[in-house]
Amino acid sequence: MRKDSVSYTMAVAAGVCIVCSLVVSTAAITLRPIQQRNAELDRKRNILLAAGLKEPGERVDVEALFEQIETRVVDMRSGRFTDAIDPEMVGEPQYVTPLPDQQDPAGIRRRPDYQVVYLRETNGRLDRLILPVRGRGLWGMMHGLIALDRDMNTILGLIFYEHSETPGLGGEIDSDWWRDQWEGKQAFDQQGRVRIEVVRGTVPPDAPDAEHKVDGISGATFTARGVSSLVRFWLDDWGYGPFLEHMREKLSEPLGEHHGANEP
Ligand SMILES: Cc1cc2nc3c(=O)[nH]c(=O)nc-3n(C[C@H](O)[C@H](O)[C@H](O)COP(=O)(O)O)c2cc1C
Repeated sequence: MRKDSVSYTMAVAAGVCIVCSLVVSTAAITLRPIQQRNAELDRKRNILLAAGLKEPGERVDVEALFEQIETRVVDMRSGRFTDAIDPEMVGEPQYVTPLPDQQDPAGIRRRPDYQVVYLRETNGRLDRLILPVRGRGLWGMMHGLIALDRDMNTILGLIFYEHSETPGLGGEIDSDWWRDQWEGKQAFDQQGRVRIEVVRGTVPPDAPDAEHKVDGISGATFTARGVSSLVRFWLDDWGYGPFLEHMREKLSEPLGEHHGANEP
């Protein structure tokens, strides 16, 4: 075959295509398990971060630290733990309830009937809960985790690990200064109503109810409002409200009657 013929050029081009596609598909297949492992590691790292068991940027053995965390599925209607649903199945279309607009301040449209939650017990005693939350920001869905202390009221942390808010504006929701404010805030008032909110501007330290309020982000009022709405939604009746109520009752039982909070 002559080197300057059309068929030679076509044969070389076809050969290059075949070799390249083989390289790309081999790479995709061999890298997939590594990608999955990294995604799983990232999920665990975020849970530890929300729980306050790891500092941002701190190098720790994530797998070892995560051994303290227990993963459970909660039936969102009854507020009880269930083993009937595999954690992988949570969020499947047959297990969601459409939300009417007036019940959907977080803009999620469908509330999962089951949710995966994370618990940490020390000496057989529940010491914190980590709950996945999500809701609409200005540009798209914001995915986060909120950690609550054993009293089911004190916030230990709120992090957002996935969102499309603008860096420097709404994107400040994952900055340390904003994240740090959440620690120690009280989600509920004495009557058990959800009170936590993000305000416009800053919260004066002597403001009444300062324990329920978090500073806004300047130039990001929409994002901040989205965070406020989603946190309130997930802690309320259509979110984890029934589960938190059940846990409060359980943990107020006299010692000895319950082991951790962990049985149904
Ligand atoms: C390019 C661009 C990106 C923006 N990104 C955000 C954002 O991520 N979150 C947000 O709430 N507002 C964002 N805004 C600003 C909003 O349009 C709006 O002006 C702002 O939320 C008002 O907040 P303020 O009352 O604190 O100034 C963005 C505006 C522009 C022009």
